[in-house]
Amino acid sequence: MGHLNQRRILLAISGGIAAYKGAELVRLLKKHGAIVKVILSRGATEFITPLTMQALSGEPTHTELLDETAEAGMGHIELARWADLMIIAPATADVIARLAQGRADDLLTTVALATPAPVAVAPAMNQQMWAHAATQDNIQQLVSRGIQLIGPDAGEQACGDVGPGRLLEPDSIIMALNTRYETRLLEGKRVVITAGPTREAIDPVRYLSNHSSGKMGYALASACAAAGANVELISGPVTLEAPDRVVLHSVTSAEEMCEAALALAEGADIFIGAAAVADYRPAVMANEKLKKHGDGLELRLIENPDIIARVAQSPGRPTLLAGFAAETHDLLEHAREKRIRKGLDMIIANDVMAPETTFGSDQNAVYLITDLGEAPLALASKRVIAEQIVAALAAQLVA
Ligand code: C5P
Repeated sequence: MGHLNQRRILLAISGGIAAYKGAELVRLLKKHGAIVKVILSRGATEFITPLTMQALSGEPTHTELLDETAEAGMGHIELARWADLMIIAPATADVIARLAQGRADDLLTTVALATPAPVAVAPAMNQQMWAHAATQDNIQQLVSRGIQLIGPDAGEQACGDVGPGRLLEPDSIIMALNTRYETRLLEGKRVVITAGPTREAIDPVRYLSNHSSGKMGYALASACAAAGANVELISGPVTLEAPDRVVLHSVTSAEEMCEAALALAEGADIFIGAAAVADYRPAVMANEKLKKHGDGLELRLIENPDIIARVAQSPGRPTLLAGFAAETHDLLEHAREKRIRKGLDMIIANDVMAPETTFGSDQNAVYLITDLGEAPLALASKRVIAEQIVAALAAQLVA
């Protein structure tokens, strides 16, 4: 799967003849694993119906700024916060002008103003309108504010003209959206990540383990690879597929994970301990399946090695070490203490009691704690959180 998998994409379609290509765009975004919601401007509804977009996206289509069906009547803010990325395609000359002015006179422009997510714009208009100095000035303004410009394409236009101004083909738009996630922030760096749970054998058929899904570690592996790093992922047993361009080392127990980590971490640039390592293992593993005797069973447990702390003390210590602190109370205090005790450069603290960030969730909300300072990362998909962690690690690497 590419970078759009599980990404919440808000597609805003404005009123031009190319609006019909929005249908294909939704289909392709869904094919790439994205979760898509659609905004249609009033003009767009003249070209394509909300029902078509609803059927293709599987989500209600939004057309009005004042939406009495939305919770507390704040549909535009909910949509703005929901999005991981907003793409306006096609973007007419009028919408581009209104975006440049920061207007908020319909749902599309209001959400574009209210969203904290990155915004991409794929223009579509007559070649003369595209070439006009007013449009070019507006585009320059949008680009200088960090808006991603996708296209336009050149060629034959609906009006019979030939020239630049056509909406880029949907598959090229998808490609452009994908490339925005290739940050190259960790170009050529070697990153080692532990992820998932470990399993500690009791006998040949039973084990002790925990609820870790591995999603956060895998999202980090994927984000590091997208940033240009060479990534080695040491993973306990999970049901996830290895991300593209990541070397997977599958392990089962904490001892196996520790051995792999010490070997691979030597001289690495970054080590991230995202695994939920079992703290204890049975002192002895029975060679045969334990039988029921009717009088209970006592298991003696012994402590597993603290993998990340060992890596921190190893002679080939990586330049940066980042670990997680999953806490149920006094989050920051425990996390700060853990960072110092384990000898880490960064600790990522998350509250596992909050229902939206518990084990197995696709979302997370964390605090980054480093010796340079502390910063909260608001609730977002694990993928977006991973990208923010990568940006913070890259910054710390050069600090
Ligand atoms: O001590 P605690 O389990 O809360 O610490 C969490 C951090 O330490 C995580 O980064 C986890 O991957 C790492 N850890 C480890 N080996 C252990 C226990 C935790 O690497 N045995």
